[in-house]
Amino acid sequence: MAQCCIHPSILSADFVNLEAELGKISSADAVHVDVMDNHFVPNLTIGLPVVERIQEISRLPLDAHLMIADPDRWAPAYADAGLNSVTFHVEAASAPVRLARELRKRGAKAGMALKPGTAVEPYLDLLPEMDMLLIMTVEPGFGGQAFLDVTLPKIRRAASAIAGSGLPVAIQVDGGVTEETIQRAAEAGANVFVAGSAVYGAEDPDAAISALRKSAETA
Ligand code: DX5
Ligand code: ZN
Repeated sequence: MAQCCIHPSILSADFVNLEAELGKISSADAVHVDVMDNHFVPNLTIGLPVVERIQEISRLPLDAHLMIADPDRWAPAYADAGLNSVTFHVEAASAPVRLARELRKRGAKAGMALKPGTAVEPYLDLLPEMDMLLIMTVEPGFGGQAFLDVTLPKIRRAASAIAGSGLPVAIQVDGGVTEETIQRAAEAGANVFVAGSAVYGAEDPDAAISALRKSAETA
């Protein structure tokens, strides 16, 4: 593939030193911020006040991944905070098109996320309303899980539908992305890659980003 975006997930960063942790990934294309509410997923991370502060200090655009119940109610405030993109889960949204329009109206890119067991076909018709499709490659909730190869056919089908439609929709993958698995995801048609442990677990996070980038671009 020609060009790809690497979005390190700060889920694997040191939450007490976020400003310094952001400084370690200056070669990234954006920062992936995982918001978990202990309802949609079993885990709990950070919410709007912390994300607003990260937005104020970050030199990189923020890419929020909302793993929360009732995104119809809570997601628009993340767009109001000035984030570059806001992604909600279709399993949790009751009116995904209305929500995507709300996000775009507030100046953010709209992303729609699917868990590994959620089929993409019922959502293909909604893609004109979206800027990004996030295909989860692990069950959402925790970092450090192994990449699920069973999601590859879904990435392929989504990529071919998007290519056929000519829509400018990015395909993001999230979960278990390593120098090895990024090649399979890129080959299947993904072009935005979230990596938590592969970046923040490395001695040199910026070097890990360029290794991931190189690996995806040669796929
Ligand atoms: C999982 C999160 C991911 C997570 C990825 O629910 O959405 O963004 O941080 O972490 P790794 O890359 O370690 O699988
Ligand atoms: Zn995520």
